[in-house]
Amino acid sequence: MTLIDGKAVSAAVKERIRKEIEEKKLKIGLAVVIVGNDQASRVYVNNKKKACEFCGISSYEYALPEETTEFQLLKLIDDLNNDSSVNGILVQLPLPKHIDEKKIIGYISPEKDVDAFNAVNVGKIMIGDYAFLPCTPAGVMELIHSTGTEISGKECVVIGRSNIVGKPMAMLLLHENATVTICHSKTENLREVCGRADILVSAVGRAGFVTADMVKEGAVVIDVGMNRNEEGKLCGDVDFDNVKDKCSYITPVPGGVGPMTIAMLMENTLRAKKLQCL
Ligand code: GUN
Repeated sequence: MTLIDGKAVSAAVKERIRKEIEEKKLKIGLAVVIVGNDQASRVYVNNKKKACEFCGISSYEYALPEETTEFQLLKLIDDLNNDSSVNGILVQLPLPKHIDEKKIIGYISPEKDVDAFNAVNVGKIMIGDYAFLPCTPAGVMELIHSTGTEISGKECVVIGRSNIVGKPMAMLLLHENATVTICHSKTENLREVCGRADILVSAVGRAGFVTADMVKEGAVVIDVGMNRNEEGKLCGDVDFDNVKDKCSYITPVPGGVGPMTIAMLMENTLRAKKLQCL
C-alpha cells in the first residue's frame, strides 16, 4: 500500500499558481462569505484564506451573524457580483436553516462561482465544458492522477450522491472514460458493488463506513469523508487500519483530499480572473 500525500500534491499545485500570479503580476480577489458559527466552516474558511495569502490572492472575508436574513445575503452577493476587484465569490456551506442555499448559490454570478455550485456551471460540467471544476472532485482526480493509475475503462464506484461531491465526481470519472457506479443509502448489495471497484471514492460522512470486505484487492481508495470518531479524532469514512493492507493506494484523513479541495479553489480563482480578462 502507498499513502497518497494530499499535502504534497496540493503544495505543488499552490506553488504553480503562486508562481503564475507572481510572474504575470495578476491582481486577484476572492470574497469568502461565512454565515453563523459553524466550527468546521470556520476552520475551512481560515484554511482557504491562508491558501490565498500563500498564492498572492487577496481574500476578503465577510463573516455574518447567524441571524442574517436571506435578503441581506442576496444584497451582499449582488454587491460582490458587481465589484470588479472581486474575481471569485465563495459562500461557505452549510448556511443557517432559514436561508435557502439554492437561491443563494443561484444568485452568484456564474463567472465568479469558484465552487462551481451554480446551475450554469453544474450544467457545463455535465456536458464536459468546464469553466470551473468542482473543487473536491477535481482534487480527487489530481490525487488519482498522481498515482499514475489508468482511469480509462476501469470500474469506479462513488459512494454518496451529493451535489457537491458524489454527482460531479462521477461525471469527472466518466469524462475520463471510467465505468462509473454511484452508490447511496438505497443501494442494495453495497458490499458487492464496492467490491468491484478498481477506484473507490467514498463521500458518505460516516466514520468506519467503508470496511475491508467492501474493498477489492489492489484498489485505489479515496476517502472524502471528514468525520469525528468516538474519541473526537478527525477521521474519514474508511476503516483505514483494516483497509490499508488490501489496497494499492489510499488517502489519509487528514492530509488527503482536504488540502486538495483548497488547492483547486485557488486554481478556480486564478481561472476566474483569466476568464474575466478575456
Ligand atoms: N462546505 C463543504 N464543502 C464546501 C465547499 O467545497 N465549498 C463551500 N463553499 N462550502 C462547503
